[in-house]
Amino acid sequence: MPNLDKKVAIVTGAASGIGLACARRYAAEGAIVVGIDLNMSADWPSVEALAPNCRFHQVDVTDGAAQRAVADATGRDFGRIDILLTAAGVGDGGPVGMLEESAWDRVIAINLKGTFLSIKAVLDTMTAQRSGSIITIASVEGINGTEGGSAYNASKGGVVLLSKNVAMDYGRMGIRCNAICPGFIDTPMLNGLMGSLPQLKADVVRETKMGRLGKPEEIAGAACFLASDDSSYVTGHALVVDGGYTAGHSHGIVQLMGLV
Ligand code: NAI
Repeated sequence: MPNLDKKVAIVTGAASGIGLACARRYAAEGAIVVGIDLNMSADWPSVEALAPNCRFHQVDVTDGAAQRAVADATGRDFGRIDILLTAAGVGDGGPVGMLEESAWDRVIAINLKGTFLSIKAVLDTMTAQRSGSIITIASVEGINGTEGGSAYNASKGGVVLLSKNVAMDYGRMGIRCNAICPGFIDTPMLNGLMGSLPQLKADVVRETKMGRLGKPEEIAGAACFLASDDSSYVTGHALVVDGGYTAGHSHGIVQLMGLV
């Protein structure tokens, strides 16, 4: 039997990259997936082809009322919400002295407040059914600093602690909440960043101990585990999925020893 048979999942940022890969994996595992994104996606039909009744809503995650309307409609139409995965996000930042206040506000509004609003929208349904798994997509940049990270890293650090607090506040009601902290994943967001910083890819790959970027499907694998009953005693965790990027610093010893 598929891992998520007949479970109902809401996935934000479902039009692209990590969110799309998670939506596809959840549908492939038998879940009904309700996708949310600011943009329509030409790829969404590939999710609907995997499981019946999946649907897509064009919603801005900074709009709490719109997110609540999607959650309420999902609860009404399918009787429950078992899984929330929050992948909607944007990358922006820069050294604080160079960062416009408006850019700070936008990143925090989408990445951090948007996650808060997504979680808030499903809690009434999840507390009423006394079960649910919430998975937030944070980042390794929410654990350690990176040069110029400022707004993005602050937003993702906030997502990690928000997730731990949701786990603490709602654990006794049967609701689990975990963050996934991806390393550098080959998606349109990362490709956009690398387009403007050409030296970044080689540097990131050198620091990633597996020697390559991650694939969105590799985040979806972790998201499937955290959504399924296989992780029934896992909550309040920040799961790093980064090919070893944060394992430690490299100083060329493995190259010297021929371990490449
Ligand atoms: P992506 O750009 O491919 O996908 C992000 C999606 O979020 C897009 O479909 C976009 O339309 C949607 N979105 C943006 N603002 C929105 C809003 N206000 N309302 C609704 N939807 C909105 O990027 P990717 O890489 O798949 O990112 C997904 C998540 O993973 C983000 O939260 C990102 O910060 C995080 N992440 C990505 C990493 C990477 O290396 N690609 C590494 C660590 C974390």
